[in-house]
Amino acid sequence: MKHPIYLDYNATTPIDPEVAKEMIPYIETFYGNPSSSYSIGRSNKEAVEKARIQVAQLINCQPEEIFFTSCATESNNLAIKGIAWANSTKGRHIITSEIEHPAVTEVCKYLASQGFEITYLPVDQYGRIDPIDVKNAIRKDTVLITIMHANNEVGTIQPIQEIGAIARQNEIAFHTDASQSVGKIETDVDKLVVDLLTIAGHKLYAPKGIGALYIRKGTPIENLIHGAGQEKGIRPGTENVIHTVGLGKACEVALRDFKQNQHNMQVSRDRLLNGLVSRLGNQVHVNGNLENCLPNTLSVAFENISAHALASFISNDVLISTGSACHSGETTISSVLQAMNIDFRTAAATVRISTGKHTTEEEIDFAVEVLVNAIKKLT
Ligand SMILES: Cc1ncc(COP(=O)(O)O)c(C=O)c1O
Repeated sequence: MKHPIYLDYNATTPIDPEVAKEMIPYIETFYGNPSSSYSIGRSNKEAVEKARIQVAQLINCQPEEIFFTSCATESNNLAIKGIAWANSTKGRHIITSEIEHPAVTEVCKYLASQGFEITYLPVDQYGRIDPIDVKNAIRKDTVLITIMHANNEVGTIQPIQEIGAIARQNEIAFHTDASQSVGKIETDVDKLVVDLLTIAGHKLYAPKGIGALYIRKGTPIENLIHGAGQEKGIRPGTENVIHTVGLGKACEVALRDFKQNQHNMQVSRDRLLNGLVSRLGNQVHVNGNLENCLPNTLSVAFENISAHALASFISNDVLISTGSACHSGETTISSVLQAMNIDFRTAAATVRISTGKHTTEEEIDFAVEVLVNAIKKLT
């Protein structure tokens, strides 16, 4: 058992050994520029195109609808600003939610400073958006709806399919930030009825520094950066072949092992919760609704505990994150927990624990022991 036990897979994942192995030839040997016409260039171009197919297969789209980027933040920027600018003569209204990652909200704030109007939809106590609210928020000048697929802090899964149907009926482009859901739950772009979908490499066992954006064929979009013709001119710049190969392999592995990974993440998450509840009883409070949640995510508050004190107390043994930020002794609770109307005390006592595809029973049992002992000491 590796030490400390890592239970923060929503923050990032390690590179899968199969992914690393696939990348090594492109680190050590194949250095050609994919745009060069001679053989070492061509073979790298082929590697990028193979990765495009692997990514497309995971989300059930055409390879030519996949655009490689540097990260999920870039994909979200391209999707949101790209659609906003491409449609700015048609309208300047965007619908989003109160629980998006800053990689969406900050883009919306920027667009607001450029004359766009943004509607932030509320969520219920479980962090879920009501599709009726989306329908009611639509205006004549709405050009984009951007709602995340699954939340990074509490794991809540949004009714993307229903929202997608509403967007489609009203002929409005629909983007979803699927950074947390790809590889954990099904992300078929047709079933989800989305026009744009963000993928984050490092959340699915590919390296950091690579992402992708799915753009449905025929969706008008303006590029953010200008240069040569790579990625059909939508995201120019010499391709990051090494990491692209890694993302492709990670998607292939995620598709191949999907059921098994999903099962393992959920079994370990549930074992953890059961272990905590059996030892701590009603001192344990779960945020969100596990019936409608990512299989690996547990947002949990421990009564009368400071989440920061707990996370730092156990950090030599178990790595988890908190639902609040602590600066100069002041605690600010996350906007997601605030939007869910979770009271300050509960939010300040909330930790996020997220399991991985290879998390073992042994690791979970050890983590329960460490958490329970720490909570008893800190209460
Ligand atoms: C839902 C969501 N969107 C976007 C991001 C941003 O990812 P990156 O920092 O890799 O760009 C994250 C990262 O935590 C996330 O959880």
